[in-house]
Amino acid sequence: MRKKFLSVFLSVAMAVTLLAGCSSSSGSKTSSGSDTSKTKTSETTSKAGSSTTAKGSGTIGIAMPTKSLERWNRDGSYLEEQFKKAGYKVELTYSDNNSDQQVNDIQNLIADKVNLLVVAAIDGDTLSTVLADAKGQNIPVIAYDRLIMNTDAVSYYVSFDNYSVGKLQAQYIIDTLKLDSAGSKTYNMEITAGDPADNNAKFFYNGAMDTLKKYVDKGTIKIPSGQTKFEDVATAQWDTSKAMDRMQNILASYYANGSQLDVCLCSNDSTALGVEQAVASDYAGKNVPLVTGQDGDEANLKNIIDGKQAMTVYKAVANEAVVTLNLAESMLKGNKPDKGLISDSGWSFKCNYDTTSYNNGKAIIPSYLLTPDVVTKDNYKEKLVDTKYYTVGSDGYLKAATN
Ligand code: BGC
Repeated sequence: MRKKFLSVFLSVAMAVTLLAGCSSSSGSKTSSGSDTSKTKTSETTSKAGSSTTAKGSGTIGIAMPTKSLERWNRDGSYLEEQFKKAGYKVELTYSDNNSDQQVNDIQNLIADKVNLLVVAAIDGDTLSTVLADAKGQNIPVIAYDRLIMNTDAVSYYVSFDNYSVGKLQAQYIIDTLKLDSAGSKTYNMEITAGDPADNNAKFFYNGAMDTLKKYVDKGTIKIPSGQTKFEDVATAQWDTSKAMDRMQNILASYYANGSQLDVCLCSNDSTALGVEQAVASDYAGKNVPLVTGQDGDEANLKNIIDGKQAMTVYKAVANEAVVTLNLAESMLKGNKPDKGLISDSGWSFKCNYDTTSYNNGKAIIPSYLLTPDVVTKDNYKEKLVDTKYYTVGSDGYLKAATN
């Protein structure tokens, strides 16, 4: 009896030791895996570990475009934080705004057997092949912020209402310049839009231009350069210096005669920064043109406080990360989330379920769209500081709480 007890005890002890060995080795993998933030690199790191997809287990592959555009640093941090807090391991890649590199980085995430991919595409049209591989391996894909085009591998899209972003910029211009009561007064405007490779860019542009059309048609808004078509005003890779160069050319060609520049409609903050720099260096007029933006980048918030940029459309990417987590968890449980995810999750912020707006060329992708908001010099404390998205530095300017 004693012998039997001893042998049972010994086998239990051995099993415990073995299990402990397993868990400690997977534990060490886990910790190196969860510390993996692959930045601007295509090298593979630790294995994803288990393929179980129960709540809080498994690895999430997150592919962000670049660290050079400020917001993606915040997105990467918030996403990583959300998924890790929920118990997932995270592999996070940044691909230096180079779409070939992003394809490689996603290939590596697939090779690492991630359980789900969250992808903010650099070029929405270049990921069909690599995402077909993901689909082949049953790895679900969420298009994050930017729609991924021409693929049936994407199940959901999480973003903000991109058309509204442009509408808010336009409405700000209409309200600030009181265009409805402008009478015969006219205003000169120039337009700077985003990257044609980013599906969002046209939504921003259309939202703004549809809203301003009435005033352009009436002649209240004039565009002296004549550059109005999206193709003429787009900025490859949302690049600040490209936006600056183009604005300098416009200023030299159309404003050197003393014409007043009243409005610079810029789709986002990285382009607004370049346009503002061009105005600072090359505009001869005495007025400060009204410059719009989007994102709440630190440099632009500084410009807003200093009166060089009028507004930015702020998108709480911290909440975008929460939506992405809850959606991913539901998908990993084998559900087919729909509108119900919004009420089930009990978010304290607005989010709409949209099944009509985002066609990626293969299908309409069901979308969770958060609501953007206008930030100005008058309300930035309430919108950004009181909400703890930013803190005020000793220099009086805002610092993002996460980046
Ligand atoms: C995002 C914007 C951002 C732009 C450049 C867009 O896809 O929605 O928030 O300003 O990319 O990074």
